[in-house]
Amino acid sequence: MKAQSDPGSVSGYTIPVMNEESKKEIYREALRELDSVLEGVDDPITAMATCACVLHRRLPYASWTGFYRVVAPRLLRVGPYQGPLGCLEISFDRGVCGAAARERKAQVVPDVHAFPGHIACDDAARSEIVMPVYGPGGELVAVLDIDSHQPAAFDEEDRKGLEPIAERLRRALGGAGAAFYRES
Ligand code: SME
Repeated sequence: MKAQSDPGSVSGYTIPVMNEESKKEIYREALRELDSVLEGVDDPITAMATCACVLHRRLPYASWTGFYRVVAPRLLRVGPYQGPLGCLEISFDRGVCGAAARERKAQVVPDVHAFPGHIACDDAARSEIVMPVYGPGGELVAVLDIDSHQPAAFDEEDRKGLEPIAERLRRALGGAGAAFYRES
């Protein structure tokens, strides 16, 4: 799934050329696959691990795909992911993930080096997108983070494609077992 036609090259790294339609198609298919695989699933770890796998396999420009869970007030801890070693904990005050959690707002970062406080878990990462993920009651339970070695890999198409995917997870995140912190 990683190999595609029309490869380009950035820093000697082979990347596929993506257009709006091919991104739309990828997210449509990812949502369809998740809908079918997660039918009846209410285990948060199963849901997050499956989602990380599906997106990472389908997005040719993803270098790291996974979740940071809200485990304490203003604290994120790494959850299921695919890719190189991620940092274990991120406070809401730091990084792109912290900004998404703090502002409860998607962050699309075309150049991570220009983002104040960006946390470089992987030195080769160039761009990033982070989506807030909510539980069944509308509470923030996690963020979905995707990194790329390609500059400006993510845009509005990715945000629009990931929104229904994050929304689809909501149902599955109510079950026990993922150690989310929920404000009472
Ligand atoms: N770059 C993120 C940290 C997580 S890693 O990319 C896996 C950030 O600035 O929040």
